[in-house]
Amino acid sequence: MIIVERLQKVIAQSGIVSRRKAEELIQLGRVKVNGEVVTALGTKVSNEDFIEVDGVPLVREEKIYLLMNKPRGVISSTKDEKQRKTVISILPEEYQKYRLFPVGRLDYDTKGVILLTNDGELMNRLIGPQSNVEKEYLARVDGIINSKSINRLARGIEIDGVKTRPAKVKLESIDRKHKSSLVRIVLTEGRYHQVKKMFLEVGHPVKRLSRVRFGNLTLEGLPEGSVRPLAIHELKQLYALSLK
Ligand code: URA
Repeated sequence: MIIVERLQKVIAQSGIVSRRKAEELIQLGRVKVNGEVVTALGTKVSNEDFIEVDGVPLVREEKIYLLMNKPRGVISSTKDEKQRKTVISILPEEYQKYRLFPVGRLDYDTKGVILLTNDGELMNRLIGPQSNVEKEYLARVDGIINSKSINRLARGIEIDGVKTRPAKVKLESIDRKHKSSLVRIVLTEGRYHQVKKMFLEVGHPVKRLSRVRFGNLTLEGLPEGSVRPLAIHELKQLYALSLK
């Protein structure tokens, strides 16, 4: 497949510099396309063009998009100084050669949907402050939650001094014997420990948390601990959601 993109974007995507720095390099005449110096910003290049920066060929990594069903006890970062399992270390060998990153975070003790990619631009669009992509969680919380608390969570609640955006919240079931409730909550934000902090604020600490959906992506057919590449139609949908 031939992909045509702006030269500065392609240079930035290869990870050597930021987009702004890439523009500077182009304007300074330090970039060649197929052996010719190019100084015009916005020049379109395809993945078949040969690009050099200061005479060094640009290594253009294939874009990878993986959906993982993260188990509990795995950290959502690329490395861990305590040598715990990470979402990267549990990947099959065939994906180890890519510089993949998790899109956002799930806590060590949270399981469920997490996306891994080397597409920094999509990643920023999906998790940046402007992102409206829905994240759906199932939370097993302590105590029998009442509708007043459900409504407070849905309207928005102050955590760390900032009110959360309106959320969809639904009580799924109550376990009277163990005095706990199962609540489905759909957020459009991804603040640090957001779900846990929200429930704590209404007096129902989270006992177990799983993310069952990220945008259009669910865990359907994906066993715990495994990954699968996104289908092209899923990727297109995800791009569309990231622009909303
Ligand atoms: N909110 C949390 O508190 N933890 C997660 O892992 C994800 C969302």
